Order: sequence, then structure tokens, then C-alpha cells
Amino acid sequence: MAGANGTVLLLNPVQELAVDCNTPTQRYIHKGGDEDIDVSPPVIDISVIDLSSIQTSSPSAEKELEKLRTSLASCGCFQVIGHGMTESFLEQVHRIGRDFFALPLKEKAKWSRTAEDTEGYGNDSELSEHQLLDWNDRLYLVTNPQDQRKFQFWPQNPENFRDILQEYTEKIILLNEVVLKALSRSLNLKENCFLDQYGENPNMVTRFNYYPPCLRPDLTLGVKQHADGSAITFLLQDNEVDGLQVLKDDQWFSVPTIPNALLVNVGDQVEIMSNGIFKSPMHRVVTNPKRERTTVAVFCSPDPSRYIGPAEELISDASPRLYKKIKNYVGIFFENYQLGKRAIEAVKM
Ligand code: OGA
Ligand code: NI
Repeated sequence: MAGANGTVLLLNPVQELAVDCNTPTQRYIHKGGDEDIDVSPPVIDISVIDLSSIQTSSPSAEKELEKLRTSLASCGCFQVIGHGMTESFLEQVHRIGRDFFALPLKEKAKWSRTAEDTEGYGNDSELSEHQLLDWNDRLYLVTNPQDQRKFQFWPQNPENFRDILQEYTEKIILLNEVVLKALSRSLNLKENCFLDQYGENPNMVTRFNYYPPCLRPDLTLGVKQHADGSAITFLLQDNEVDGLQVLKDDQWFSVPTIPNALLVNVGDQVEIMSNGIFKSPMHRVVTNPKRERTTVAVFCSPDPSRYIGPAEELISDASPRLYKKIKNYVGIFFENYQLGKRAIEAVKM
């Protein structure tokens, strides 16, 4: 099959495998391997933070900030409400993803990733012959800075896809600022302490995830365990089907979906900026034997040309600097990812 610009596609969607037979083939099976998969571990009691109550200096705001600090220090994530987006808007965002993956393969293939690119519609990249693959198809798009958008990969079907994604990106840029300010305040730092490391124009990548049903959730993962290379990730989950799990104190927990809330997790870059106080959590996605699941993840990072590092105010004799100053962490992240290593280990002092 040839893509928009004529190059050979890397296309072999899991969705197509799942049509004939929801039983995974060898390349997807974790048997006897690295991960023991418990599909229904205990549910994590994760803090729900009302952002609208934080933006004052009242005692209730202080309490909410304290809740934020403890949850990021213990499990690296929280659910955010009071973010200013309506339930119907979030439904639309979810729906453009769901409707896109429901299109015939031939239609979706118009926006396929090519051999030269990481963006577009595709599935798990095969980096080596022996790699276990994720039971997941995705649509991966750089959404900010605007001049870096590659519209040849932005679907025009469903017809409101681009408008909704544009609007969502604008809203997430604002939300990202509010969250970064709250994170700084919760550590008694100046409000702009983390935000200043970002530069003028944050880097945003949106990944629509599609997980077809899979008859062997005990042997297959939607996404293998990983930590995010972002500073902050915003995840719009699927109101109908859960699947995300997070590692806390060496135990896996399922992350519940709360309607109208976004799941926020810190990525490696906030772990670095906070000098390790906030933890970038390991997480993974399990599959479901009966139902498909669609999610929308937005990864926010500082401008890659800027140096980031632990906030100076957090460094003292009692808490020495743990991470080097680095730039383009996302680049470092993917280099290490290909070698099966955690990038954060490579930037420790
Ligand atoms: C990711 C991710 C979780 C999910 O895309 O990095 O962790 O539930 N997604 O889709
Ligand atoms: Ni992730």
C-alpha cells in the first residue's frame, strides 16, 4: 500500500489482526517473559484535585496543594477536575479518536506513518526482531509549536477532527500552565519556577491510542510498562473501559476512570525539575477480552533547545542535586528506549 507521499507503509494494524481472531500471535505474547500480568489488581486510591479551588490563597487552596504534593510524591499522578472543559467537549475529543479508528483501513491509511517519519497512523514500531509488540494502534501527531505541525498526517475524517484537536491543544496549553504553577506552589517555590524552564512555546504531542479486544489479556499488553519522557502527560481515558495500571511501591494498581476528569501524570522531566521529589511513574495498559478502548494522551515538554534541570531552590546539603542539566530530553528518552533502558538513569549525577 502506498501512503500520501508514495512511500511504502509500515502498516500492520492490530485492529486488523483482531478482526479475524482476537488471539494474539507470538509477537504479542509475554509468556515466561519480563512481565507478569494481573488484569485486575487492586484499584488505586488516587487523589482528585479540583484546580478551580487552587487558584486563590485560601486555606482550602493550601489543603488542595498539599494533597497534590503528596500524591505526586507517592504515585506520580492525580485526577484533575475543575479544568474548565465541559463534559460534552471532552466527549467530542474522545469521539474524534474513536470515529477515526472505526474508519475502513483504506481510509485511515491516508494518514499513515511512513518509513521516514514517526508521526501519523500506525502501530508499535519494530525496533528489533525479538521485541514484544504492544496490542495497540495509534495516531501520533505533533500539535505544538504550530509551525511544526505536519498536516499530511492530520485526518480530515471525521470532518471536525482538525478543529477539535486544535481547540483541545489550546486548552491543554493553558491547563499545562496552571498545573505547572500549582506544582511549583505545592513545593513552596515561586509560581513560575517550573514554567520558566519551558520557554515560550511548549512542545506538545498528541497520541490517540486504540486497543482492540484481545482474548488473552493474561499474556498481552496494550502498552508495555514504561515511564513517560514528557514533563507532564494529560490522559483522557475511556469512560466505558478501564485498562491503565500504575506501579506504586513495586505493586501494580488499576487506575479508575472518572467521568469528566483527566488523568495527569508527571513524566521524567518533572521528576528532574523537582530533583526527584515528584516521581515519574511506571505504568502499562492491559487489554480487555470483549471491548475495545480508545484514549487520548497529550505529552507536554519544554522547548527541546532549552536546558532543564533541578530547581536550584530545592538543592541543599541535605538534598543534593540528583540530575544533570540537559536539553532535548525527549531525544535522550527515545535513544535509551530503543536500547531498552530508562533514560532517567542516564541523566543522574
Ligand atoms: C501512553 C500511555 C495509557 C492509556 O500513551 O504513554 O501510557 O491508558 N497510555 O492509553
Ligand atoms: Ni504512558
